[in-house]
Amino acid sequence: MNSTELIKTAETAARLGAKCLLDWVDKFQVSEKGRADLVTDADFASQTAIVEHISQQFPSHHMLGEEGLAHQEGESDYRWVIDPLDGTSNYVHGFPYYCVSIGLEFKGELILGVVYDPNADEMFSAFREQGAKLNGKPITPSQIPSLDQAMVVASLPVGTSAQDIAVKRFLRVLPEAQTVQRTGSAALNLCYVSAGRIDGYWSSNLKPWDMAAGVLICRESGGTVTSIEDGSYSIEIPSILATNGTNIHNELQTLLAEPLF
Ligand code: IPD
Ligand code: CA
Ligand code: CA
Repeated sequence: MNSTELIKTAETAARLGAKCLLDWVDKFQVSEKGRADLVTDADFASQTAIVEHISQQFPSHHMLGEEGLAHQEGESDYRWVIDPLDGTSNYVHGFPYYCVSIGLEFKGELILGVVYDPNADEMFSAFREQGAKLNGKPITPSQIPSLDQAMVVASLPVGTSAQDIAVKRFLRVLPEAQTVQRTGSAALNLCYVSAGRIDGYWSSNLKPWDMAAGVLICRESGGTVTSIEDGSYSIEIPSILATNGTNIHNELQTLLAEPLF
């Protein structure tokens, strides 16, 4: 299948989803899937628009989406992995750091990713072995060489407690990095590493749809993506460490993976 056709489909689907997000601002109802784990009308509307567009173009492809979507009828080598709104808490509070994230696997390998931020009108995209782009222009990670000069970002689980491993890891990095942030969108964080706006990002608790697109974008930009614990990586496991590929990766891995007690 032709990469241009796949990218065009993904980008159009992401824009259609994002239009739903903007249309629902000031109108949406919020409910809680768990404590502080929010979902709105906008999440569902965006997913519906994305799925409709992709399935018109590629009816046989499989799909996995955060809002209860698991389409896998018949045989297909392709699986789209969709987060119709990454950063729902930000969306609910009007904090303009959220996006639509759409990844594509072929025979279990990531081959395409698009992440669209409708507030900034920024489309991050990548296709395997073709590099990563922002609004059509190539992007690369920063060259900051060490953690003491770096701005890094962590995701903590929604509704986290002070005893959570993720909080302990966060506290470990705090005194070692120049700046540590928590921003609320895993997909955008991965794109920000790719574009050199932050130098590293990690989380212990992500789902495939949070990461699929951003991981490919980050790898294609020249960044390094592994699990927190070792050099392996899969979107099916919740642990991720993505950096600009300098010694910051080793420094963060050493701090984060150390036994906790
Ligand atoms: C969340 C965001 C957040 C991360 C959470 C995710 P959602 O996704 O990516 O940064 O910390 O683990 O669940 O719920 O806004 O799609
Ligand atoms: Ca998400
Ligand atoms: Ca979501």
